[in-house]
Amino acid sequence: MLPGIVVLIAVLLVLVVLHVLDDAFKVLREHGDLPIKVSMRWSIRATWILLVLALGRFLLPEGAFDADPVSPDPLPQVATYAEDGLWSGADTARLAYLDDELEARIRYGRELITRTAAFLGPNGSVAHLTNGMNCQNCHLDAGTRPWGNNYGAVWSTYPNMRSRSGKLESVEKRVNDCMERSLNGVALDSVSKEMRAIVAYMEWLGTGIAKDSVPKGTGIERLAFLDRAADPARGHEVFTSKCVSCHGPQGEGVMSKDGATYLYPPLWGEHSYNQGAGLFRLSRFAGYVKANMPQGSTYEHPQLSDEETWDVAAFVNSQPRPTKDLTGDWPDISKKPIDHPFGPYVDTFTETQHKYGPFAPIAAFYKKP
Ligand code: HEC
Ligand code: HEC
Repeated sequence: MLPGIVVLIAVLLVLVVLHVLDDAFKVLREHGDLPIKVSMRWSIRATWILLVLALGRFLLPEGAFDADPVSPDPLPQVATYAEDGLWSGADTARLAYLDDELEARIRYGRELITRTAAFLGPNGSVAHLTNGMNCQNCHLDAGTRPWGNNYGAVWSTYPNMRSRSGKLESVEKRVNDCMERSLNGVALDSVSKEMRAIVAYMEWLGTGIAKDSVPKGTGIERLAFLDRAADPARGHEVFTSKCVSCHGPQGEGVMSKDGATYLYPPLWGEHSYNQGAGLFRLSRFAGYVKANMPQGSTYEHPQLSDEETWDVAAFVNSQPRPTKDLTGDWPDISKKPIDHPFGPYVDTFTETQHKYGPFAPIAAFYKKP
């Protein structure tokens, strides 16, 4: 589009030319040399109108003649994937296209995952329900990191029949399992603002994931079994060289300066997860650590060998931690995972072997891969 100032100058020039011509014709007419009556009157009027319009462009506010701005259709929410096709969360930038109330609820849910203790911990601003850890300590990057114990399959696979409780578990029940075990705390009321926010966040994370499907990279990696029992003494050495700098000599962790959440969460002791938690199973601990610890490791660039990983899992899970009454768990004992360390079992392997392995013979007994 021509800049207004150019149009203005052009119109002025045309006006001057027309006036000169008009005068010239007038002189010719008066001298009677011109047989026909030629007049520039109408051209001059039209050009004046143009001039007024061109001037108006400067006086009117920008965009006054544009069509009314129409708000664009909200962009659909989408899932994101790493280059190798592993699920890596829903696109946070698109949260802004949801209606304000829903967006706020999902964002609050996300904060409850990343900074749980600030809201629900021992000094929490909402309630005092948990041990001071954050969900994100174990569900990395707000539950979106590939093989970082992410939530990619939560919305698509719950409600879900779970053998630990022998019941059909809703998302709320599963969240509360971690509240009571991993966070060694108390369940959230399922109608509370906090639970509704966490569930909304889980639903939004499930964007684009078909019911019953499990995206690649979801949850925790499965490591191959060692052909020996995992060894806490060797694991102690791994801990001392690779973990102690952050998690502390007593596995007690380090609080952040503001005292709200841990900078480095505890691995054992009274503020850690209890014996009913998923990480208390060696395979879960090892799978989590292999792809994510020491901090900076990824599933593509792990820093520990499988042996070191199983051994450090054995060391950490042989240290003291809170207990939990587990008598209601695994009502059908034949459904216990092979690395559930508490009997009774339908097999004849000892609790010690169920805890540290070797696991291959137990897996063979149950015909598990
Ligand atoms: C100490 C570590 C830890 C903490 C802290 C923790 N979790 Fe978990 N969570 C786990 C483990 C381990 C699993 C089981 C993963 C598996 O078996 O593949 C799990 C599983 C889950 C699942 C089911 C995932 C699935 O795909 O089946 C949900 C939902 C969940 N946690 C929510 C939460 C929420 C919400 C919080 C915070 C209130 C939380 N967790 C805190 C360790 C933790
Ligand atoms: C450079 C610091 C650092 C080192 C070294 C490190 N971690 Fe961690 N670890 C962290 C941080 C930080 C988190 C929490 C991650 C988050 O919240 O995003 C964490 C979380 C964990 C968790 C889950 C939460 C919990 O407290 O139970 C486990 C298990 C764990 N680390 C084990 C290990 C093991 C085993 C090693 C040694 C092989 C190790 N870490 C080395 C920083 C470290």
